[in-house]
Amino acid sequence: MNISIIGAGNIGGTLGKKWAEAGHRITFGVRNPVDPKHAGLSSLGRLTSVAESIADADVVLLSLPGSGVADFAAQHGSSLAGKIVIDATNNPRSPVMNNLEILAAQAPQAHLVRAFSTLGWENFANPQINGQQIDLFYCGHAPSRPAADRLISEIGLRPIYLGGLETSLAVDGLTRAWFALVFGQGRNRRVAFKLLEEN
Ligand SMILES: NC(=O)c1ccc[n+]([C@@H]2O[C@H](COP(=O)([O-])OP(=O)(O)OC[C@H]3O[C@@H](n4cnc5c(N)ncnc54)[C@H](OP(=O)(O)O)[C@@H]3O)[C@@H](O)[C@H]2O)c1
Repeated sequence: MNISIIGAGNIGGTLGKKWAEAGHRITFGVRNPVDPKHAGLSSLGRLTSVAESIADADVVLLSLPGSGVADFAAQHGSSLAGKIVIDATNNPRSPVMNNLEILAAQAPQAHLVRAFSTLGWENFANPQINGQQIDLFYCGHAPSRPAADRLISEIGLRPIYLGGLETSLAVDGLTRAWFALVFGQGRNRRVAFKLLEEN
């Protein structure tokens, strides 16, 4: 798949590396493609403007600060039609953690997925803890599910689909739980969630 990554920091860089290794074509959409701080990413994919990065993409990962999504969506929403758009952004100090409503308004033809938002990036870089595979809970438009399952599996995580976007607050509840454990209770950032299910 052609994957556009908007925001080439901890999340974008970590997921981009794994998807490049899985054989996807990666384009990092950044504000200043010639900024030397992005040099380490050039072996993983192309560094371009945000608009160019989105143009040929099948999948767009939003891994910029949550506060930047409204401007991004206003500028580029119409270019997202028909693409799978994964919202990994968080607004930790707002009542709603995700940016799905803004995206749905500005990009009504996009196939939205809420994923990679519930755990610290270290758990995507290393998706096992004490030999156990980490589960990633996510939600999104049902037709996006096969692609989302594949992209999550390629990171090394087990995808756990919670349902359509109406379940996004359940996904975001796990983010709040992760924040409470790590920032409230002082647990290690290498803490994650596992679904236990009797056969
Ligand atoms: N860190 C985590 O463990 C974690 C886990 C789950 C979800 N998240 C969420 O994922 C998002 C990214 O987190 P991160 O830790 O990867 O952040 P980060 O390391 O600070 O990287 C953010 C990147 O976004 C770029 N950026 C900022 N504003 C932008 C804009 N308006 N348009 C395009 N790019 C822009 C920055 O580029 P410049 O250098 O040009 O500013 C930077 O490369 C956040 O919403 C965060 O809440 C983070």
